Order: sequence, then C-alpha cells, then structure tokens
Amino acid sequence: MLIIASSNGAIGIDQAMNALKNGGSALDAVETGIRLVEANPAEHSVGYNGYPNIVGELELDASIMDGRSLNTGAVALMRGFPYAISVARQVLERALPHVLLAGAGAERFAREIDAEQWEEMLTEEIQAVWRDRLEDVGARGLIARQADDGLELRDEAPLLDWVKLTTDPERVLGTVNFIAIDSAGDIASGVSTSGWAWKYPGRIGDSPIIGAGNYADNRIGACACTGMGEMAIRAGTARSLVLYLKTGLSLDAAARRAMEDLRDLAGDYIGGMNLIALDKDGGHIGLSSRAGGSYIFQTEDMDSFQEREREVVTIPMRWAGEART
Ligand code: GLY
Repeated sequence: MLIIASSNGAIGIDQAMNALKNGGSALDAVETGIRLVEANPAEHSVGYNGYPNIVGELELDASIMDGRSLNTGAVALMRGFPYAISVARQVLERALPHVLLAGAGAERFAREIDAEQWEEMLTEEIQAVWRDRLEDVGARGLIARQADDGLELRDEAPLLDWVKLTTDPERVLGTVNFIAIDSAGDIASGVSTSGWAWKYPGRIGDSPIIGAGNYADNRIGACACTGMGEMAIRAGTARSLVLYLKTGLSLDAAARRAMEDLRDLAGDYIGGMNLIALDKDGGHIGLSSRAGGSYIFQTEDMDSFQEREREVVTIPMRWAGEART
C-alpha cells in the first residue's frame, strides 16, 4: 500500500493511509485525504477559503479516477459545496452516463445527493486579500462600486482586460494531488482546487479534466498535476506521462518527457508546473519546473509520511509575454 501526495496533502495523508489499513479502497484513501485539505482554512488553493475568482466567488474544480476501470467523476465551477472531491466521486459512483458536471448543474447534482453545503466559503481575511488585489490594480471602480455594506459588483463589468492585470503568477500554483495503491494493488488518483486566484469567472483548469490534471490506469500507473492548469490541458500532461510509461520508458524518463512537453509550449502565459506520478509496481516520483519543491509519500509500514525533493525540469516563466524569474 502506498500513497503519494502534493506536500499540502500532509494534513490528510495519515488518515488516508488509515483508510487503506482498515480495508478501504484506493478511491476511499484519495477521497479521505483530499477532504481534509479541502476543509483546511489555511490552504488557499483548495476548497474552503481558497482564493476566489475576480468577482470574489469561490469556484471549485475536482476529479477522481479509478484505475481498475478508467471510470472517472469530475465537477467544475461548483460554488457552495466545500467537498468537491466527494461530489466528484459521486459522479463516478452513481453510474451516470456523464463524467464531468459544471456550474449550476454540478451544484444541482450536489444538492440532489445531499452533499454538505456551506453558507460561507470565504473568511473575512481572504475577502480582504481579494479587495486589496482589486485596489492594487485600480480595478475596484471599474468592476465594483462601493455600497453601504461593502463592494457591489457591476453586472456589466468588463473583465477581459482587468483579468490580465489581476491574475497573479505567484498564486497560480496550488491544488492538491493524492494517488493511492491499495492492498489489492488497485490505483486511484484525485485532484481538487479552487484554481487560479482572481481567475475569470467560468475559467476551468486542468484539475477536473481527465488526462490533463489527473489520470490513473491500474495496468500502468498514475499521474496528477498542480500548477498552471492551462498548460497541463494543452499538453495533456497526466495521460501523456502514463502513455510514455506504457511505451516502456522508466518512470523517471516518462515524467521528464511529460515535463519537456510542457516546457516546449509556446505562448504568452507560461507559469510553474508540478507533477507527481507512480508506476504500478510502486515506484514514485515528483517533478517541478522550479527548484525547492517537494512531495510526500507514505507506505503501510511507515508511522508517518516522508517528504522528498522534486526533481527539476526548468520551464522559463513568461507572463503577459514578458520573461519572469
Ligand atoms: N492546477 C489547477 C488549476 O490550474 O486550476
């Protein structure tokens, strides 16, 4: 039994391993671990108290994949339900003829299955960070007006140009990844995120897109991504890595190849990317486009997780067409 996760999964990995030790499946472990991250108010890239979009709304994306069957469930743009991973799992479990529900439809589905719903998804502190960001770029007057009880959004606000100013490459990174192998050798992977801080409303990242931010196949292995989701969507990163493994490459070579595909992307917005991956035999790896990153792992005979440095495939960052360090 093995669990690997992005380092912000530290809060959930022990309980995820307990789920496996108590006979739970890889899907159970992934859901258990991610739920604890989604509920963590100190984590601003996932679930409750994540950074909101440019109009101050928290829109959540998540997906989960069962490596036995390649069945998946995913939700995108979901508001008001903190445990996006559990709603995604129910999309999988309820044998719908769909794999991805977004926006009002995802929220309707969440209500129908009695998913936990919270009135308040953002603390005052994060609402203040959002307001400060708007003020920093002078957007406040344009997209919102001062009302008696705070900011009131203008319905007709032109967001197209302002979103380029308010998006923040330093707050693009984030998202939680969990991948587990259970006692039967079955693999599952899951990803949950609140997406970019200050994103355009309706923007969907790689996390709910199977093959981009998440992929698991019992016969081969699994991969999950954090970082700038647009890049993982364009390169089909998670599925690419698993396919590179399938062609016979080692885990290290397959992971490097997937990162090199990201490095070779053209365009004006190239940010940081990270991935974790494992093969069906329990080998595991983490890579990042920048030095200093780590991921965590735990096997059934370990009392707690260990942290391991991610290998680096440098991807020079460009933002609005300009080189960034
Ligand atoms: N990787 C998460 C996102 O881009 O939304």
